[in-house]
Order: sequence, then C-alpha cells, then structure tokens
Amino acid sequence: MPARNRKPSIDPNRLPRHIGIIMDGNGRWATRRGMDRNQGHRAGSKAVRKVVRTCRRLGVSYLTMFAFSAQNWGRPESEIRALMELLGEFIVKEWQEIMDRDIRVVHLGDLKKVPVAVRRQLQELVAATRKNRSMTLALALSYGAREEILRTVRLLAGRVAKGKLNPADIDIDKFSGQLYTGKMPDPDLIIRTGGETRISNFLLWQSAYAEYHFSEKLWPDFSSQDLLGAIAEYQNRRRRFGLTDEQIDHRQAPEES
Ligand code: FPP
Repeated sequence: MPARNRKPSIDPNRLPRHIGIIMDGNGRWATRRGMDRNQGHRAGSKAVRKVVRTCRRLGVSYLTMFAFSAQNWGRPESEIRALMELLGEFIVKEWQEIMDRDIRVVHLGDLKKVPVAVRRQLQELVAATRKNRSMTLALALSYGAREEILRTVRLLAGRVAKGKLNPADIDIDKFSGQLYTGKMPDPDLIIRTGGETRISNFLLWQSAYAEYHFSEKLWPDFSSQDLLGAIAEYQNRRRRFGLTDEQIDHRQAPEES
C-alpha cells in the first residue's frame, strides 16, 4: 500500500484524553470552488460529524470543537445567520446519533448572545445528554478564552468582595474549576486546520501544556485519516510539563517493590 494511504498506527493506551479543534478554512474551501462561504460551513459540518464519530470510536474522552468565537459576532450578519441555522440543523440531525452513541454534549461560551432558537435547542441537547458517558463533546460557541478568563476573575472577585473567599485561597485548581470547562481535563492535543499557526483566543488557560498540531488542510477536507495522523504525531512527542527527561523517565518506570 502506498505510504500516504496507510492508516497511521495509534497506541490505544496513549490516546490524548482531550482533543480541541480549531476548525479553520471553511470560507477558503468554498471560495476556491466558486461557492458561497456558507456552503463551506455546510461542508465543514460534515467534517464535524466524521471527526466526532472517529474520536468516539477511538475512545477519546473529551472533544472540544471551536464552532463560533466571541469575535465571530463581527462577521457579516448573513454569515452569522447561516452559521446559527447550521448549528440548529446539526443539533436536530445529530440528536439521535448523539444519544445512541452515549455522547454528552456541553457548551462553552456566552449563551446570552446566541439567538434564542439555537440557544434553546442547545440547552435541550445539553440537558438530554447530561447522563451520557462514552464521550464529552464540548461545543465552543460564542466562546473566547480571554472573555472566559475575565468572567472567572469577576466571579471570584465578587466572592472576595462579599467576604466569602480569601484571595490567598485562589489557586490553579479553584480558578480552573470556574472556567466554562469546569471539571474537564485540560486539552492534551489542539489541532488547527487551514494552514494558520495561531491560537485565536481558544482555551488559553487550559492549553498551558497542550501539544499543537497545525494542518494545511482546510477544515472541510480534514479527514479521519488526518485526525489519526495528528494523534500519531502527538504520541511521538515527549511531554515534560516543565520537568527534566530523567524525572519523566523515573515517573514512567514501573514501581520497584
Ligand atoms: C472558520 O473558518 C470556521 C468557522 C468560523 C465556523 C466553524 C463552523 C463549522 C465547521 C460548522 C458548524 C459547526 C458545528 C459544530 C456543527 P473560516 O470561515 O474563518 O474560514 P476561512 O479562514 O477560510 O475564511
């Protein structure tokens, strides 16, 4: 088999527990085909479906998809409307499969800004899937990491002002627990498609020790094979979390009795 068609081999015991994806390139994908940008987003939603299925099949526990940023509200109104409609359609179309595959859906971001129809659909999906356990799919919608951090600072500052919290008790865990991601583990792997090598206000706090994978592929072209390739590359990286190689080797060595 030619090398490019060979499935990257994945160690199922060393999967990233949490993958975050910045889905970039829908607009360019459409423009290159002489199509409307919104058709690119529609093609992008098919790629979402594929990637969710693949992550679920592999056994990835958490998948966060950056569907709409806090800054995307500045896009032309017609594009915002089309994206919101597409999200609503996605929720309706995928509802049964999400339930059948035991996927829990959570939302990250400022729901107040989301048009009421989609907001309700999303809230209903979140409520209906809250007991599902096979995988958590976090939809970052109307989400910005700086906005998320500021919201948490305000929330904790409010408790301090009321005398309910001692500033000295604010540590990394307490702060993390108040972010939209709450009890979710930090992302291990962040993938960005579309050829840009930037983070664009995505999970800034949570990705302190994430590994990054930047793909030249435009999001609608990103396949399950590309996802496997990103995971295989992740598995070849050595994560040190600020420690030395020797310390990591020692931690990974089997316990001596
Ligand atoms: C960035 O590409 C992509 C978005 C702003 C929207 C992502 C949305 C989807 C993939 C579809 C719906 C999502 C779900 C979860 C159903 P861009 O438009 O900035 O691309 P460009 O850089 O080529 O212009």
